[in-house]
Amino acid sequence: MGFNPLEEKGISPEKQVMNWGQMNIEPYDKHSVHPYTRTRVILANGAEFEGAWFGHQFSRHCSDTTVKQKLALSRRLEQQQQKLINCLIPGTESTLEVTLGYEQVAVDLTAWLARTEPDETVKAALDFALLEDFDHLYRYSNLIEMTEGKDPRDVVGDYTEIFPGRPTVEEHCHPLDGIRAHYDKDTADIVTKLHVLTIVAAEQQTMNFYMNVCNRPENMLARGLYQEIGMIEEQHVTHYESLADPRMTWFERLLLHEYNECHLYWSCMQTETDERIRGIWEHMLDCEIGHLHAAAEMLQKYEGRPAESVLPESLPAPTKFESNKEYVRRILESQVELRTDGTGYKPEDELAADARYFEYQKMVNEDGRVPSVQVIEDHVHEFGGEYRLSTEGEHPVARLREKQTAR
Ligand SMILES: [Fe+2]
Ligand SMILES: [Fe+2]
Ligand SMILES: [Fe+2]
Ligand SMILES: [Fe+2]
Repeated sequence: MGFNPLEEKGISPEKQVMNWGQMNIEPYDKHSVHPYTRTRVILANGAEFEGAWFGHQFSRHCSDTTVKQKLALSRRLEQQQQKLINCLIPGTESTLEVTLGYEQVAVDLTAWLARTEPDETVKAALDFALLEDFDHLYRYSNLIEMTEGKDPRDVVGDYTEIFPGRPTVEEHCHPLDGIRAHYDKDTADIVTKLHVLTIVAAEQQTMNFYMNVCNRPENMLARGLYQEIGMIEEQHVTHYESLADPRMTWFERLLLHEYNECHLYWSCMQTETDERIRGIWEHMLDCEIGHLHAAAEMLQKYEGRPAESVLPESLPAPTKFESNKEYVRRILESQVELRTDGTGYKPEDELAADARYFEYQKMVNEDGRVPSVQVIEDHVHEFGGEYRLSTEGEHPVARLREKQTAR
């Protein structure tokens, strides 16, 4: 028998309000934290942001005061969770170290979701953007070694390789090519619905993070790199959010959000290696079960539909952070040259000569000073080579192997 959060008691929303001391707890130690504990914290923070922000959007589209009051209560609780979780990251981690954690989430979460995704269109979307975030990790790694003298391996461990993906300079596509076809709410597997919610929350968190921190470095190249990669995160949010069926009602979407949060914490609980933090995930699961019941009551009251008509009898298999080196290499080898074209994809050499992609590429890359290219050139100039972390052999794509320079 699997775990069905609808049949669990959880903690009722009225009993979840925290005082300041309960919310502001000790962060983890950056030297001993497991890289995947950091990524779980980053992902959970993104899910909580999405929980609060979805509640605001729902409320702005709703004229019923009772519903708005219920949303205000659950939003207040999501905000408390977000603050507790985000502050597990210590102030001793620099913005760039946190950034490496964000891109490691984008690599190993995306790869896991792609490996376990039943819908072909959604899997293709995950594989496509996986290669782009993988490249971001490499660009920021070169920046951190150059500007802070830190080894990216101390952040990501040996779990994720660091070398070029689809080069960031080639990722900038025309906005009209950013929309994918959506799944069908009536036939899609629950796993697909949860995967889309999860990846949107993660990418949106990254987009927001770069929107805010791009003005924190003093170094002009670093500011430019955050801006350039931040524009790709906007593409990623557009790409992934378009996969969800927009015909779901607000109440159904609320229920799915809470169910996804239950699934997330239940997954975190099973994989967490830090005992104190595992206790946090357990408590958060109990809170989410309370939110889920509140959402289920609203679906029943306002649409006459039981939650069981939307949700399965037990949670699907847990989402796990684990090493995906071989998978990333395989997708790189076969898909690095893909570009978006309309709602589909084509290898660059099969695009029409007048494709929007080339037009947009010219507009943004024209003056030759592309931060994501510059950061590697500067690193080579200063260190005599690039920062790369390859543990499984040479780069799978010949044109992306490091050019031999005198070291
Ligand atoms: Fe939450
Ligand atoms: Fe990224
Ligand atoms: Fe991304
Ligand atoms: Fe929630």
